[in-house]
Amino acid sequence: MMTRQAHEEAARASHLFGYFPYIERLSPRPDQIVHGSDNRQELERARAALDLAVDGDTVAIVSGGDPGVFAMAAAVCEAIENGPDAYRKVELVVIPGVTAMLAVAAAVGAPLGHDFCAINLSDNLKPFSIIEKRIVACTQTGMAMALYNPISRSRPWQLDAAFDIARLHLPKDTPVIFGRAAGRPDQRIETVALSKANGEKADMATCVIIGSAMTKVVERHGREPLVYTPRYWPEETGLPNVDAAP
Ligand SMILES: C[S@@+](CC[C@H](N)C(=O)[O-])C[C@H]1O[C@@H](n2cnc3c(N)ncnc32)[C@H](O)[C@@H]1O
Repeated sequence: MMTRQAHEEAARASHLFGYFPYIERLSPRPDQIVHGSDNRQELERARAALDLAVDGDTVAIVSGGDPGVFAMAAAVCEAIENGPDAYRKVELVVIPGVTAMLAVAAAVGAPLGHDFCAINLSDNLKPFSIIEKRIVACTQTGMAMALYNPISRSRPWQLDAAFDIARLHLPKDTPVIFGRAAGRPDQRIETVALSKANGEKADMATCVIIGSAMTKVVERHGREPLVYTPRYWPEETGLPNVDAAP
């Protein structure tokens, strides 16, 4: 799912920065210098890349999906804002990509066909109380939501907490899509009712989409069901959950 523009820019770079598995997928040429790193060293990686760019090198910083969605583009902007003045002279080009929620949504139909939100469930850089309020706001305003970074060894409970919050406001049969490794050979997509959703169905490579009260599953003949959210929201439907208890 890499775009042609992303391929071209990666090929143009003499230095490639990024998380090891992402760089490997690019199959770097022998003349390209690879700076593979751990997934958590975003700021150090951004600064190291900017230092080379200041010296005149062409550098690519690689993210999975879209670099602006919970990924390196914001870390690079942060490094430029807070770094030496020379960083502000560097030409920065952010190449858009296919973010996980779009790949997962496309695999099942169109669950993001109406208004939706993307929420990073990691509470490393923000408190869970904020995440909780955002999930409630989505359910109460009729928005589907895509949950990134749903679970990890150090954050084992946040996804189940998100489902518990959603269950207070949404119908039991609201579709929940677990999209793992979307677009990769080991892709696995599972849709279950919200009442049956649990954290064990997800891992770090999963993007979870919780539908809105309008999201439906359409059975088909001899084919996988479609999951979609209609483009319309009838006036008479209102927003029945707005006054529900948090
Ligand atoms: C740090 S975020 C990076 C998101 C990435 N920049 C994007 O646009 O997809 C990592 C999270 O993205 C989601 N993710 C990334 N690649 C995925 C894929 N191929 N399939 C499903 N989810 C994915 C998972 O929720 C994972 O925990």
